[in-house]
Amino acid sequence: MKRRILVTSALPYVSGAIHLGHLLEHIQTDIWVRFQRLRGHEVIYVCADDTHGTATMLLAETRGVAPETLIESMRQEHVRDFAGFLIGHDNYYSTHSEENRHYAELIFSRLKERGLIFTREVEQLYDPEKKLFLADRFVKGQCPRCGAEDQYGDNCEACGATYDATDLKNPRSTISGATPVLEASEHYFFDLPQYAQFLRDWLASGTVQPEVANKLAEWLDAGLKPWDISRDAPYFGFLIPGTTDKYFYVWMDAPIGYMASFRNYADGHNEVSFDEFWDAGGGAESHTEVHHFIGKDIVNFHALFWPAVLNGAGFRTPTRIHTHGFVTVDGTKMSKSRGTFINASTYLQHLDPEYLRYYYATKLNGTVDDIDINLDDFVQRVNADLVGKVVNIASRCAGFITKQFDGELAAGLHDEPLWQGFNDAADVIAGHFERGDIARAVREITALADQANQYIAGHAPWAMIKDSAQRDEVQAVCSQGINLFRMLMIYLKPILPRMAADAETFLNVEPLTWADLASPLTAHRINVFKPLFSRMEKKAVDALIEASTEASGAPAEQPSEPVEVEADAVETIGIEDFERVELRVARIKAAELVEGADRLLRLTLDMGASERQVFSGIRQAYAPEKLVGRLTVVVANLAPRKMRFGVSEGMVLAAGPGGEEIFLLSPDDGASPGMRVR
Ligand code: 2FM
Ligand code: ZN
Repeated sequence: MKRRILVTSALPYVSGAIHLGHLLEHIQTDIWVRFQRLRGHEVIYVCADDTHGTATMLLAETRGVAPETLIESMRQEHVRDFAGFLIGHDNYYSTHSEENRHYAELIFSRLKERGLIFTREVEQLYDPEKKLFLADRFVKGQCPRCGAEDQYGDNCEACGATYDATDLKNPRSTISGATPVLEASEHYFFDLPQYAQFLRDWLASGTVQPEVANKLAEWLDAGLKPWDISRDAPYFGFLIPGTTDKYFYVWMDAPIGYMASFRNYADGHNEVSFDEFWDAGGGAESHTEVHHFIGKDIVNFHALFWPAVLNGAGFRTPTRIHTHGFVTVDGTKMSKSRGTFINASTYLQHLDPEYLRYYYATKLNGTVDDIDINLDDFVQRVNADLVGKVVNIASRCAGFITKQFDGELAAGLHDEPLWQGFNDAADVIAGHFERGDIARAVREITALADQANQYIAGHAPWAMIKDSAQRDEVQAVCSQGINLFRMLMIYLKPILPRMAADAETFLNVEPLTWADLASPLTAHRINVFKPLFSRMEKKAVDALIEASTEASGAPAEQPSEPVEVEADAVETIGIEDFERVELRVARIKAAELVEGADRLLRLTLDMGASERQVFSGIRQAYAPEKLVGRLTVVVANLAPRKMRFGVSEGMVLAAGPGGEEIFLLSPDDGASPGMRVR
């Protein structure tokens, strides 16, 4: 049955450029969308810029333009960048649109009618110079727990404590530098606690991945709080109806932007009905699907607030939320100082977008694990798989068919069982794509490519052609090879749409679909083969890193929304800071694999007087049995951290770029557990 699916990627903030992190999500979504279309389903893929909030207002002010001018020029940049990576949004809109205002107001009024909105006084830090209330990200000060300087108003990067901005010692506004004061104002709240049972049922119906459901269950168990959905003027956003100085909080109208973008699309396409996708009363849930692709940092907004708000306002809830992890480069957060905070536009000046599409595909496994771009592996993987395996099949066969047989493929298959084996893999591969385990789909596909290459090597048409008696055999083998290549291109088409289009030209066929797997190409004339893919050069990657490092030299222009990046410059610390770090020798008493974490080992450390459990990301570098009995250096006074698998009570020191190249720092012979390291 033909499915009817609306798909979204999270809406990028308008105040920043598109970077590798956004691309992971949009590439993942785009692959899923293209896969569904290839299978014959109807898919509409929409997105938009997330435009509201204080950050937009301040950036526009810094640039001396109206927010509307800023957001339109940024939107155009974002559209251009995504198009450069072959992301096929059907509509890329804006949350600052009349459609969004309409649905935000409608939803608010329906929630109010149903008694789901109430007001309450809230005390908040206020910048008396700038005359605005300060979100946590715009306040910095000393951590109330460990005293570290220069910490944001929500959590401490030094000790991991979370707190309220009002708890910071010596707070200052990051906008004006002024000392904030406490001010009270009236806020609007959505009564989320009324939705606790509804959300439990909704999450139990398979709408999120199991690990996400577990995290959400923890939040539900801890108790839901009413959600503050208003912000005071001055703010860039939509006024709350009936007020003159209260605005919808950016996170209130951002997901409504999915509806607004879809409405805008539907208005231009008569065959698409908004209500069929969104109206709960019309039974939308029974015959259409809504899929949101998001990062793990915004799960609460999408899997708690959003379904509750939708239900409260009489709209359908999402079919599925697909959550992914963060991007790291060479094992660490993207960093401007290391040149690994890579913007889409910089990437496109150096490398082919399909290299990244393919590499991400090899890593996306449908879980929330972080995705690491290892730069050496990136080059090696793309070249080995795509150039060395896939394109190689076509290039080895095409020349013979063109030169010796005037481009004509043989009338039948040379090895029917082999062809059938490629065909039989279809359901398994489709299942992996459907579940978002694109990495496994790729492994299946490259294993088929290996089989195709073995087949060609086994028959060696380059040797047979020397014997005129074997001419027909050469045509049959090369035609089979080209048929196998064609099937691989069908499987890879969602990941590599441009290469697939070039392959269609070479094969002289209409756009390939999943259904084409069932019938081979026989007695058919193909076109002259042109290289479909060029080798990736390491020096182009080096140039990209260099260009990204240079880009970071520009002065920081705007206060932006939080992104997962490392601070720009390397901060120095004083000797007194260093002395606060307690380094000790420990003996590794036991080392075990951690189920569900492919980079971690659980270490039991003998610290002399006590034992500790520490989780360490060294699994790719060390087999557990190699570690037992070894001495190492541990940060002994690191605050315990609760992880998914248990509590980690310290940190083992290691060096190296990551992955397999991690080297534990070991003390000299003669040290014993518990000794202090200086
Ligand atoms: O985290 C972010 O980048 C947000 N701009 C995502 C918004 S997604 C949706 F809710 F609009
Ligand atoms: Zn702290």
